[in-house]
Amino acid sequence: MNKPARGSLLGIEHLDAKEILALLKLARRMNPRKARPLLRGKRVVLLFYEPSTRTRSSFEFAAKSLGAMTTLVQSSGSSIEKGESILDTGYTLQGIGADCIVIRHPSAGAPQLMAQHLDIPVINAGDGMHEHPSQALLDAFTILKHKKSFKGLQVAIVGDIVHSRVARSACHLLSRFGVKITLCGPPEFVPDVAATLAPGLRVTRHIEDALRGTDVVMLLRVQKERLGGEKVSLQEYVARYQVNPARMKLARRDAIVMHPGPIMRGLELTAEVADGAQSVIRDEVHNGVPMRMAILARAVGKAR
Ligand code: CP
Repeated sequence: MNKPARGSLLGIEHLDAKEILALLKLARRMNPRKARPLLRGKRVVLLFYEPSTRTRSSFEFAAKSLGAMTTLVQSSGSSIEKGESILDTGYTLQGIGADCIVIRHPSAGAPQLMAQHLDIPVINAGDGMHEHPSQALLDAFTILKHKKSFKGLQVAIVGDIVHSRVARSACHLLSRFGVKITLCGPPEFVPDVAATLAPGLRVTRHIEDALRGTDVVMLLRVQKERLGGEKVSLQEYVARYQVNPARMKLARRDAIVMHPGPIMRGLELTAEVADGAQSVIRDEVHNGVPMRMAILARAVGKAR
């Protein structure tokens, strides 16, 4: 087993504040419409074992903006369907000349395993319920764009935290900068133990308590596909936790609403909130391209 190749991005948990800030600074210099060919001649493989719209297409645009070639390999229609293992798939892609693999996989630790066996950088595009580091970075980029600094910020993360790799990566990242984080949801989605995920987290069961005075409202999708027998009634969830305009009045007047997507209008938030003046949900998606350009430039380009 190897040490992951330099430039790999497997999670936020083991990145320090300096490395995170360097990536955010690099992303600010990236312009998808006026990109420098930092990845000219490089081959980036997008290896997706799970569905994706935002992450896959923004990594593809990011790679192409920097001059790289990309190939998409999905479970369906590839030899993964015939039973090829993840490592044999990795060896194959490296063997045909991949310079970098961006991987999404339903199992936690799959990108790490691949990175320990290959000589090329591996980027985690979401692994099971573990981490989604590029999402946390683009969310941090978005927060800094709207709030200028992490200093004194309060962030409420509401919803299905236990199933969320987005929440896990966000907590690791924001807690590095002393952000006050409140996790909110029913015990099935936010067990008390969630408070131990990172320093300075607080858990509440009351949406009003979570939203009062907060600067950032980060909502999470209720992941019906990951539900495994929890007794969470969606009707009750809507009644107790859905973020609507009345509840948003509890947050600071300049609070922003975030959601990694895909959003479920009428479940975790109302359409008025999703499309309202405080929503930066579409800006998050937009920021995914420069942020992923920075991640790829660090992995295989000259901007290390
Ligand atoms: N936020 C996110 O990961 O979205 P996709 O599943 O569409 O990539």
